[in-house]
Formats: sequence, structure tokens, C-alpha cells
Amino acid sequence: MMLHAKMKERFVRRFDDEIRFFRGWMTKPKAVGAIMPTSARMARRMASLIDTGSGLPVLELGPGTGVITRAILERGVAPDQLVSVEYSTDFYLHLKRMFDGVRFINGDAFDLKETLSDLGEQRFDSVISGIPLLNFPMHMRVSLLEDLLDLLPPGRPVVQFSYGPVSPIVAQPDRYRIEHFDFIMRNIPPAQIWTYRRGGELHHIPRKWCRK
Ligand SMILES: C[S@@+](CC[C@H](N)C(=O)[O-])C[C@H]1O[C@@H](n2cnc3c(N)ncnc32)[C@H](O)[C@@H]1O
Repeated sequence: MMLHAKMKERFVRRFDDEIRFFRGWMTKPKAVGAIMPTSARMARRMASLIDTGSGLPVLELGPGTGVITRAILERGVAPDQLVSVEYSTDFYLHLKRMFDGVRFINGDAFDLKETLSDLGEQRFDSVISGIPLLNFPMHMRVSLLEDLLDLLPPGRPVVQFSYGPVSPIVAQPDRYRIEHFDFIMRNIPPAQIWTYRRGGELHHIPRKWCRK
């Protein structure tokens, strides 16, 4: 009986998320940049890269319906240790209702100086990003990545998913290193997870993953 109620609740929540997502997509397809909410499996894989013992908060970008937000909290991050930036006011208002205690900011990830201005010199353990990078020009992707890496201790990752076969950010081994973390078949559409780090050992990046 209990199990049945839980399954029903999960189904309704998922359906709600999909409707909300679809509405967002109808009004701003480029900003949403996907046709379905992120799968729970991909969200868990991305959240698995968080170091919950670092004592630093986590920065999430483009939470949308909150699938990845939920996975980050389930990973063991306290709500007040999560800062999450969402551009769409509709998604933002919905997220604030859904997740008590998380610091949601209705702002632009590409303008971090302004968006995070209330947080002073705050540093983060890692960045978990659902921003549809492929919809933005390369120079904006690179500059976003560099700004994000400035907020992290050396060696800690910016985690990004993408639907393309190669890293959505061009390789610059002298500035950051790129690693392919996972390929998630059970996502619509299937997606790759990439990590970007500064500091630590520089790894060889397989050619097939690099944009020319
Ligand atoms: C691919 S969707 C994320 C999907 C999300 N993981 C989910 O399952 O609902 C991209 C999200 O990034 C947000 N977004 C797009 N551009 C943004 C920006 N410049 N700053 C912050 N959020 C942005 C969109 O509004 C959307 O919620």
C-alpha cells in the first residue's frame, strides 16, 4: 500500500516535471535546450562527483525542473550548502516552492559577477551544470568555464552534460583539462558527462573528444 502511494507520488511528480519542462520549451526552446527533463540516473552520476566532505557549498547552474537539484541533495549536500542559478523565472519560482532552504538565484550564469554578487568571495566545492552550452557561441562557453574554475579549489570539477559526441568546450590543455566521465544511454536524448578542472596532473585528451 505504502509502496503504491510512493510510486504514484513519483509518477505524478515526473509527469508534472515533464509538463513544466514542455511549457518552458514551448516559450524558450533555446534557453531550455532539451526536449525532456534530465534522467534521474544522469543526475545521480553528475552529483556523485561532489565531495561532501569539502566543507564548501556546491554551485548548480540551470536546475530547470530540479532533477539534478534533488540528486545533489540526496548525495548528502545540506540545502543551505547549495546555490543554484536559474535563468527562467517560471522554473525559479517552482524550484523555490519545491526545495526548502536551497539558495536559488534567478539570474544569468553567463554574468556570474552580477548573479553571485551577494555572495562576496564565496568559493565552491564543484559546479554541476545543466546549461545548454551548445546553444551559445564557443567564446561564451570558454569564458563561462574560466569564470567557474576561478571559483573552485585546484583539482575540483565543473561537471557538464551535453548531447553532442565531443566536449562542448574546446580543449586548451594549458588552461584546463577535460575528462569524459560517462555516457548515459538512459536519458532522452542520450548524453555525455564531461568534467573540466584546473590544477593537478594534465591528462592526455583523446583526439575524438576535442573540437578542432
Ligand atoms: C537542459 S535544461 C536543464 C534540465 C534540468 N536538468 C531538468 O531536468 O529540468 C537547461 C536549463 O538551463 C537554464 N538556463 C539556460 N540558460 C541559462 C543561463 N544563462 N543561466 C542560468 N540558467 C540557464 C534553462 O532555463 C533550463 O532550465
